[in-house]
Amino acid sequence: MTGAIMVAIDGSEMANKALDLAAEFSAKLGAPLHIVHVMFYARHAERLERLAQGENLVREAAREVAPGADVVQGQMAQIFNSLKTRAQSERMVAAIGELLLDRAARRAKAKGATPIKTKLLNGDYAEAVLEEADRLKPRMMVVGRSGLGPLKSMVLGSVSHKIHAHAKCTVVTAR
Ligand SMILES: Nc1ncnc2c1ncn2[C@@H]1O[C@H](COP(=O)(O)OP(=O)(O)O)[C@@H](O)[C@H]1O
Ligand SMILES: [Mg+2]
Repeated sequence: MTGAIMVAIDGSEMANKALDLAAEFSAKLGAPLHIVHVMFYARHAERLERLAQGENLVREAAREVAPGADVVQGQMAQIFNSLKTRAQSERMVAAIGELLLDRAARRAKAKGATPIKTKLLNGDYAEAVLEEADRLKPRMMVVGRSGLGPLKSMVLGSVSHKIHAHAKCTVVTAR
């Protein structure tokens, strides 16, 4: 156990709550904060619309990845469709991931968390988070709650449920 506080973020309002709680733990305990995000699958692009900061992120990332693209507000799925190659889509989700992590680190720093590390991960959302936790061995991990209702999330299975079921460390759900 390294004593670090780990938090998994996906850019949602719920994940922001998790981030704030983790930052508070870090500040109060003097524990390092480790913020992780697993890159979105490009084929789930439409779900980005559910993100609190989704629109801005996508537009910012699009400016980096596809400078010529016509980026119209509220049409994120179209932005993704306008990316021509798979490599370009991958650069896009990576750019979005980096932006999410940068913003999260700034937000946590403002709340007094220190030191802060960020890590962009790749793979199955829950498995990548669990593997990182196995490596880091944090004293605690903080996640947001699922935005889906109880029935839907049972059917679809959720990232947070999988993390809760399999993590070896204490997992806290922010509400
Ligand atoms: N791609 C991701 N990277 C890191 N953490 C994630 C990711 N997706 C989900 N999580 C974590 O799981 C929490 C709940 O999300 P999830 O179970 O996916 O609910 P929903 O069904 O509403 O998307 C998030 O607040 C975050 O802590
Ligand atoms: Mg999700």
